[in-house]
Amino acid sequence: MRFANLTRQPDDPLLRIIGQHAADPRADKIDLGVGVFRDEEGRTPVMTAVKAAETRLLAEQPSKSYLGPEGDTGFVRALGRLVVADTVSADRIVGLQTPGGTGALRLCAELLARAGVPRIWIGSPSWANHAPLFRQAGVEPAMIPCYDLTAQLFDLSGFLKGLDGATAGDAVLLHGCCHNPIGIDPDAAGWAAIAEHVAARSLTPVVDLAYQGLGDGFDQDAAGARTILAAVPEALLAYSCDKNFGLYRERTGALFALSPDAGTGAVVLSNLLALARANWSMPPDHGAAVVRLILEDEALTREWRDELETMRQRLEGLRSTLAAGGRIGAIDLGAVAHGKGMFATLPLSPSQVEWLRDRHGIYMAGSGRINIAGFNSAAIGRFHAALRDMAANGVA
Ligand code: LMR
Repeated sequence: MRFANLTRQPDDPLLRIIGQHAADPRADKIDLGVGVFRDEEGRTPVMTAVKAAETRLLAEQPSKSYLGPEGDTGFVRALGRLVVADTVSADRIVGLQTPGGTGALRLCAELLARAGVPRIWIGSPSWANHAPLFRQAGVEPAMIPCYDLTAQLFDLSGFLKGLDGATAGDAVLLHGCCHNPIGIDPDAAGWAAIAEHVAARSLTPVVDLAYQGLGDGFDQDAAGARTILAAVPEALLAYSCDKNFGLYRERTGALFALSPDAGTGAVVLSNLLALARANWSMPPDHGAAVVRLILEDEALTREWRDELETMRQRLEGLRSTLAAGGRIGAIDLGAVAHGKGMFATLPLSPSQVEWLRDRHGIYMAGSGRINIAGFNSAAIGRFHAALRDMAANGVA
């Protein structure tokens, strides 16, 4: 009777919002919770390039036999080229397909634990799953508070100062672009300073790249990751295709490792394959096969990139409309314009978040994180009005 030793765990607070919002009967409710892209009508459509690749896959896929723990190697190769470009020589990079970006992070955490890395430094706040994921794999998260929510700014020198507490061999987590949950990324000089700091202290960078193409543009969004890769002998990069290919439920991602030389890379890959085998044996195929088909076909790649760019512009437009609300009570929405991508985190207290949900049917993470893609033009007006109502009622 061992189950009696278990204690009940709370539901994941972010994923709980999906059910809460669905159960709310109000027609004008607004879902700013979990990070999925939405169009003006509130839908998360399958991208047209994805549909075309799926149609082709259905007609032409010769077999559903096992691929192996590395997954679809054509997918890994094509994605690797896209992300790393010619930043480092190809023989220093190994990679494998993973179930989503979370699978990549989990494998990365287990590899770090196996390599004897005791700690990972993470700018705070970070994606709510980062710290528990690394802790559960045996790598202790060390948080560095470095965001000013009122001014919507990243405190670069605070982050670098926090890293001074690290010892050689520790890891450091970096959001490649479109920081989740804040939306504020370092600029080019900031990335260069981080790269120099990390290299000088012999830290192992772990880049989490989950929103490429939704910030400044496709290549621009990889610039930070490339600056890091160019500066260090060893690094890991977890990639998610959830958002930029709209493949959320297909769990499509990859983990790349940069090593000083091909020999070390082969050893790293052998460890990653062994860890994958012990975790999920082999990753799900469909999403990766779709991405490979798109990336191997020039016309489909163009179609996908155009669609992604339209999504990016929608987010940019929504963000500036949101920011145009200016100062409302204690909140300066104008500062949200500093960010990019899907998220911003507003300086709201948990009771203000609750009040906005109960009174106005506006759903967001308890931290005050909003998914900007959850808005449309009408909803932004309602959101501004709700914040004015909150200020007028003195809700703190
Ligand atoms: C989010 O942050 O909303 C997404 O990455 C979904 C998730 O798994 O948390």
